[in-house]
Amino acid sequence: MSSSDDKITSLLSEERVFEPPTEGRDAAAIGSLDAYHAEYKRSMEDPEGYWAERAEELVTWDKKWDTVLDADFDKPEFHWFKGGKLNVSYNCLDRHLENGRRNKAALIWQGEPEEDVKVYTYQMLHTEVCRFANVLKKKGVKKGDRVSIYLPMIPELSIALLACARLGAIHSVVFAGFSSVALQSRIQDCEAKVLVTADAVIRAGKTIPLKPNADEALSECDTIESCVVVKRAGNDVSMTDGRDSWWHDEVAESDIASTCDPESMDAEDILFILYTSGSTGKPKGVVHTTGGYLTYVMHTCQYVFDMKDDDVYWCTADVGWVTGHSYILYGPLGLGATSIMFEGVPTYPGPDRFWKIVEKFQVNTFYTAPTVIRALMRDGDGPTQRYDLSSLRILGSVGEPINPEAWMWYHVNIGKEKLPIVDTWWQTETGGLMISPLPYATPTKPGSASLPLPGIDAAIFNEEGEEAGPNEGGHLVIRKPWPGMLRGVFGDPERYKKAYFNRYKDTYDPEDGARKDDDGYFWIMGRLDDVVNVSGHRLGTAEIESALVSHPVIAEAAAVGIPHTIKGQAVYAFVTPNTGVEHTPELLAELRGHVRKEIGPIATPDAIQYAPGLPKTRSGKIMRRVLRKIAANDFENFGDTSTLADPSVVEDLIKGKKALD
Ligand code: WTA
Repeated sequence: MSSSDDKITSLLSEERVFEPPTEGRDAAAIGSLDAYHAEYKRSMEDPEGYWAERAEELVTWDKKWDTVLDADFDKPEFHWFKGGKLNVSYNCLDRHLENGRRNKAALIWQGEPEEDVKVYTYQMLHTEVCRFANVLKKKGVKKGDRVSIYLPMIPELSIALLACARLGAIHSVVFAGFSSVALQSRIQDCEAKVLVTADAVIRAGKTIPLKPNADEALSECDTIESCVVVKRAGNDVSMTDGRDSWWHDEVAESDIASTCDPESMDAEDILFILYTSGSTGKPKGVVHTTGGYLTYVMHTCQYVFDMKDDDVYWCTADVGWVTGHSYILYGPLGLGATSIMFEGVPTYPGPDRFWKIVEKFQVNTFYTAPTVIRALMRDGDGPTQRYDLSSLRILGSVGEPINPEAWMWYHVNIGKEKLPIVDTWWQTETGGLMISPLPYATPTKPGSASLPLPGIDAAIFNEEGEEAGPNEGGHLVIRKPWPGMLRGVFGDPERYKKAYFNRYKDTYDPEDGARKDDDGYFWIMGRLDDVVNVSGHRLGTAEIESALVSHPVIAEAAAVGIPHTIKGQAVYAFVTPNTGVEHTPELLAELRGHVRKEIGPIATPDAIQYAPGLPKTRSGKIMRRVLRKIAANDFENFGDTSTLADPSVVEDLIKGKKALD
């Protein structure tokens, strides 16, 4: 055990509370707990006044709104800043050209190869965005049209999003780790007109072709008229005449201008659709709009990351997820910050890659996920000690509950026991951070996301919809609308209502379990629905099950989450093959490959077990809690199983599980 390991263990047993640093408080947006409480109180007493103030201060509006909020939980429908007009790309780019930031680095891109670095000043990014917006225009893209984006973490990804925002086109980013099948269903759902993709993804030293996935997806996407391809790796790709063209050729055309007027959008026009998993097999197209979203991501960026003009800020997420949308792009660029975009992975070429980047660019704020911390912990503190991390000021965490060991490792080895850690709870649906410490105001407790941000009315409800007492577990809920909230599930208003506003009246239901301690601190437990959180990525068990049963020899399948030391949770599946199909290990391997192909590598089950039958109630519902226990090798206390149609299947599954291990 190294000395820092000793420290971690001893600190853990003390259950300490960590005070925010005193240095930096005076310059912070909110610099004391009293100041937080005062601002929180004001935001709850007069939410509309509060949000109007924030929207006015942070955003440049072409036209001011008529009403701050028009909310109807029953429909449900929420309109923020109705009558207001603005353009998000103007706010993220143009206005910084006039306020002294023209030559400031907006984006610093670090490619996977160390020497691949590109720096875009606000002026340069503006030019690139305008040029690509003009390319999209030439392809017939107009306000309201959908553009699907399937790109690795290269600058063109950020440029494409901002170009859509400039034209008022709706972007729908599909994470480049998703399969062609997943891409296809998302393009079909939003009926995109253009797809932007690349030849390949460079990851951990390998070139992984991407264009073939796009081609496969587009074989059944009638709405797509054009496909623009970025050359990243230079591998051979096939181009379809009349549909496909190269990004670099398009932007180099002499008739492509370097300016493009931003479209003045209504506050409630859609900015983007981002698909996320829910409790049914079909991912939900979460809809975010223009004015409220921008206000909210800037508000949270300013308060939680205490963003200052000369800060270098690095969020390690992929722009393909909401964290990248809100905290690599829109929040930081809205505030005129310098944001790092990194193409690679934390462990390649070695487990010191992140710290090398921190030193290289003198990063001040570093925002990552617990799964990354856990993966890096395996290599001990050596890699962290090789670099000068003294530029760091604020550390952040997102994606899943951070276990206290990981929190302490982060605190000791990266934070050098001095830096505040902001554990930020939020969701794709919430648009931005909801519950989080403020770095210079909130004492932190390892494992707790702490207190709701100003403007956020969070509470814990029991099943009856009453507020739960201290330390009583229940449903985390949000009782007041906030500007960053999702405005719909694309094309499915019924699902919007059912998924988020049905459980309790006049309340948003995030489907997370949590408790609040005696100090009012929130401790998030995890999902209450059938969603598994693998390395901070949300996966619906129903999606995995439908991928498994799409295999011709599988009759039935059930997937559950099991605890995993690095990934937080892993996927474990039970399958019942058709009668007469031999139960071979080869078939199990094939099924894992099949899920990978249907959804993507992140959804691949860690293990699959044959199930002669699944534990079902007499009404045919699979009893998942029984499966979760068996998968986790916990063969006792299954709870009430009296409603099982055939209790003997449980014994069979236990036998099967024991035989596997
Ligand atoms: C979980 C990612 C505990 C939670 C921004 C939520 C967290 C889901 C935290 C959303 C956190 C995210 N502590 N749990 N700090 N952050 N979660 O939509 O279960 O990919 O509902 O958004 O991740 O995942 P999503």
